[in-house]
Amino acid sequence: MLVNGKPQRTIWLNPRNPACVEIIDQRLLPHRFVIKQLHNLDEVIIAIRDMYVRGAPLIGATAAWGMYLAVLAQDDLEILSRKAECLKAARPTAVNLAWAVDRVMKRLRSGGTDLLALARSEAEAICDEDVEICRKIGESGLSLIAETAERKQGEPVNILTHCNAGWLATVDWGTATSPIYQAQQRGIELHIWVDETRPRNQGANLTAWELGEQGIAHSVIVDNAGGHLMQKGLVDLVIVGTDRTARNGDVANKIGTYLKALAAHDTGVPFYVALPSPTIDWSLDSGCQQIPIEERDGREVTHISGYLSDESIAEVRITPASSRAVNPAFDVTPARLISGLITEHGICAASEEGLLGLFPEQVNND
Ligand code: MRU
Repeated sequence: MLVNGKPQRTIWLNPRNPACVEIIDQRLLPHRFVIKQLHNLDEVIIAIRDMYVRGAPLIGATAAWGMYLAVLAQDDLEILSRKAECLKAARPTAVNLAWAVDRVMKRLRSGGTDLLALARSEAEAICDEDVEICRKIGESGLSLIAETAERKQGEPVNILTHCNAGWLATVDWGTATSPIYQAQQRGIELHIWVDETRPRNQGANLTAWELGEQGIAHSVIVDNAGGHLMQKGLVDLVIVGTDRTARNGDVANKIGTYLKALAAHDTGVPFYVALPSPTIDWSLDSGCQQIPIEERDGREVTHISGYLSDESIAEVRITPASSRAVNPAFDVTPARLISGLITEHGICAASEEGLLGLFPEQVNND
């Protein structure tokens, strides 16, 4: 998508130095646009764990490039297997991380001799496929927005989204935002309610910035405002992303997503989840019971960072020094609260039957 009017991806190999992978340091957005260079696997693990990059598909793409950098350092398959396990432990909830690492390892074990070339082509393929998958998610979800726009006879379609499931969370396009961007390209009037998404404020910092760069009307709201806006008829549609979807259609996403789904259910607002197929964990029968939920540092709750008038970024404490904080980073929305899943193969019911209808090759994968 666009940054200062120019097309930009979230991750790429430096064209002049194939020993260097480049990312956008998302910790500094929206205040500063800084490119960060990654030179080895340790730096990649830090970038994922400390959320220079985040969002399930981008975590997967970054991990794939991490394996490429690991092969660059040495190409012993046993050592690489151990490093792959360390990389997979960087963040537990987004299944794209393990999916991408396993995919690169499988390619490395496929019998070829030039492991570096294999790792590079697999990482490039994962990134290019992600762009295409996300573009297709946009095509699938566009009909939902177009139908609403038709019903509203040109009045703006109000879409609520949580966290950042935009292009910054993927290689390009985003998942929840891809239908939005494609609706904009077709001239549909839109207005996006952007949940700020405490504690790390991915909505206020990242989604709002993205939408602004694309020229899409939006308003940032506190996380608690969504239910009220839905009751007042000010939300036509909710579209969120997911970090892991179980085969029964339960969906893990950023903490607070479940509360939005409950409010949408109560008020009759359609609640859709956009997901690329690598986010589906076919090995899990039930998301509510089996998806591991990341617990992050309580400091993300007790402190908040922002931009000062002298253009520095500062962090301040907002709780009593003695108060303890608990910080579960994700929650699981049960399938029964979800109107549908938007995938690169189309839209389906949030159920095993629905998912298998779109991905029949997974019928025996349990
Ligand atoms: O903790 P984060 O910022 O990695 O969480 C991101 C989300 O929860 C996104 O909604 C999800 O990864 C879907 S991204 C297309």
